[in-house]
Amino acid sequence: MNKSDKIRLGVVGTGQITQSAATQINAHPNGEVVAAFDTNEERVKSFCEKFDVANACTTLEALLADENVDAIYVATPNKFHIPTTMAALEAGKHVLLEKPFAMNLDEAKAAAALAKEKGLTLSLGMNQRFNPESQKVKALVEDGKLGEIYHVKGYWRRRSGIPKMGTWFVSKELAGGGALYDIGVHMLDLSLYLMDNFEPVSVSGVTYSKFGPRGLGEGGWGMSDKSDIAFDVDDFASAFIRLANGATVSLDATWACHTEKAGDNNVQLFGTEGGATTYPARLYRFSKEIPGAYEIVENLPDPKKPTMGNRFANFIDHLHEGTPVCCTLDQALAVQKVLDGIAESTRTGREVVLA
Ligand SMILES: NC(=O)c1ccc[n+]([C@@H]2O[C@H](COP(=O)([O-])OP(=O)(O)OC[C@H]3O[C@@H](n4cnc5c(N)ncnc54)[C@H](O)[C@@H]3O)[C@@H](O)[C@H]2O)c1
Repeated sequence: MNKSDKIRLGVVGTGQITQSAATQINAHPNGEVVAAFDTNEERVKSFCEKFDVANACTTLEALLADENVDAIYVATPNKFHIPTTMAALEAGKHVLLEKPFAMNLDEAKAAAALAKEKGLTLSLGMNQRFNPESQKVKALVEDGKLGEIYHVKGYWRRRSGIPKMGTWFVSKELAGGGALYDIGVHMLDLSLYLMDNFEPVSVSGVTYSKFGPRGLGEGGWGMSDKSDIAFDVDDFASAFIRLANGATVSLDATWACHTEKAGDNNVQLFGTEGGATTYPARLYRFSKEIPGAYEIVENLPDPKKPTMGNRFANFIDHLHEGTPVCCTLDQALAVQKVLDGIAESTRTGREVVLA
């Protein structure tokens, strides 16, 4: 890549998340959205007008044939993540894919293998990693402030946060999963990322659908046209994951449940020398100055890594400057393996040993 050139992105899926994605890509000095495709022709047209995008495509093939496009951002319903990614890789384009990676581990492995074979970058945009509060905790862990981290609790609980009823989000066929695939994946990924431990060995998990099927718990997200798609995904998921070094992760993800706060998400780390939370970033430990006292350290220093601004900046800097991608394929595969394990454990009612 010529260092003076911008990285030119084509976006696939011009729904809700791509509106903020395009703003962030275009705000980067070396990034630009130059083409777009969506199966909804009206939506892609208005997106291209809004963001002054030159090539509004009516087929994926047209987008992938555009020689001005260096890389693709995939933000379609989950079912189309891997077919779109594979087609983009076959066309010689790098890919930044939205979460979740895939509908299952086999699909994810096939895309990872193709990216490696083609020598192209495939990364996942795990945006929670880029939250400045998460980065403060990451710096604490890297500085050894927590000692040995033996347990982590990651949770995202919403009281009424099911994306718009009737959209692809609530369809198992189109989404693969509900709360677990939508928000659980973020907290699972963030938990493993903060521990820097992507070696899950077993998982016991369960998912429930207690609100959605009764038409309860709808939230605000989702701009896809409302249809009559029936709700058949989970709205509550819980899992316990064992890692190779003996550390454990407890995960909760709910779109809808009876709970104190309307929305509550956090990763809580328990270490031998200190504990931490991400939202807000805080350190918990015995006082260094006053014997017997306990301190909660707020206002933690901002590590200010410029390449960690957001997921698009990281991807563009990777292609432009060779900066390492934040989310590697091995990490993304480990997360997908746990998601598959939770599904199997829900089916069998047993702990699943992950190969
Ligand atoms: N990282 C995050 O914080 C975050 C937040 C929201 C959504 N997402 C992910 O982004 C993706 C899109 O979510 P959204 O909220 O923007 O959904 P959305 O429903 O608002 O938009 C999806 C768009 O994809 C289009 N589409 C459907 N099938 C397509 C296909 N085969 N090819 C091209 N376009 C197609 C739809 O017409 C729609 O415009 C999902 O994978 C979701 O999980 C990530």
